[in-house]
Amino acid sequence: MRKRIIAGNWKMYKTIDEAKNFAQEVKGKLIESEIVEAVICPPAPYLYELAEITKGYSIKIGAQTMHEEIEGAFTGEISPTMLSNLGVQYVIIGHSERRMYFNETDQSVNKKVKAAFESNLTPIVCVGESLEERESNKTVEIVSNQVTKAFLNRTGETIEKAVIAYEPIWAIGTGKTATADDANEVCHAIRNTVEELYGADVANKVRIQYGGSVKPENIEELLTKEHIDGALVGGASLDSNSFLKLIEAAS
Ligand code: G3H
Repeated sequence: MRKRIIAGNWKMYKTIDEAKNFAQEVKGKLIESEIVEAVICPPAPYLYELAEITKGYSIKIGAQTMHEEIEGAFTGEISPTMLSNLGVQYVIIGHSERRMYFNETDQSVNKKVKAAFESNLTPIVCVGESLEERESNKTVEIVSNQVTKAFLNRTGETIEKAVIAYEPIWAIGTGKTATADDANEVCHAIRNTVEELYGADVANKVRIQYGGSVKPENIEELLTKEHIDGALVGGASLDSNSFLKLIEAAS
């Protein structure tokens, strides 16, 4: 059975005090579970402090992005080894906002996936189609292509540890959620792509999240679906009670 994963992507929100309060509030309320794991992805300046606060508790810390090189003259960037040295365990790669505003491409996503694995970080690789692509029935083609390119030249042994987040761009922050059946259909197509590339065993192990306006009110139905192993949550992960409800629904 695949362990569910609920990850909160805080994007560029919260003060340091709000971030610390959140971590203090939730850490003692989460218990180690075989069924679900909880991850929060705060803004980069808060990673170290939140990793320290949550050390030894059943909540993991993820970064929202990283550079693909270990070190170098890349002003303003953060390397994968820096993240893992801070106690970070996950990193979101290729979020549609990074692709849209920061020129992230399938090629840079591929380099970052490699770098993440080499630094013992688990990548949460985001894929998803625009509204225009959905309306022209290109969803499966688009996401399969993104998955294929993200994992190019990686082995099945590494891919089975990755997390893939299916996030239709039109559902992010809009209040519009894909129906559970539609989301499941695309997550199934993603699993089929992984199977074609790396075999059934790897495809059965890889975890696929849905993301896009997930909230306590709709997560239960999404999680009843065979191919949805969790959620990557933006807005509804910012409030500690709401985040705890999401974890509870997945438990
Ligand atoms: O990474 C999270 C997604 O962009 C979803 O954001 O839950 O605010 O729609 P949202």
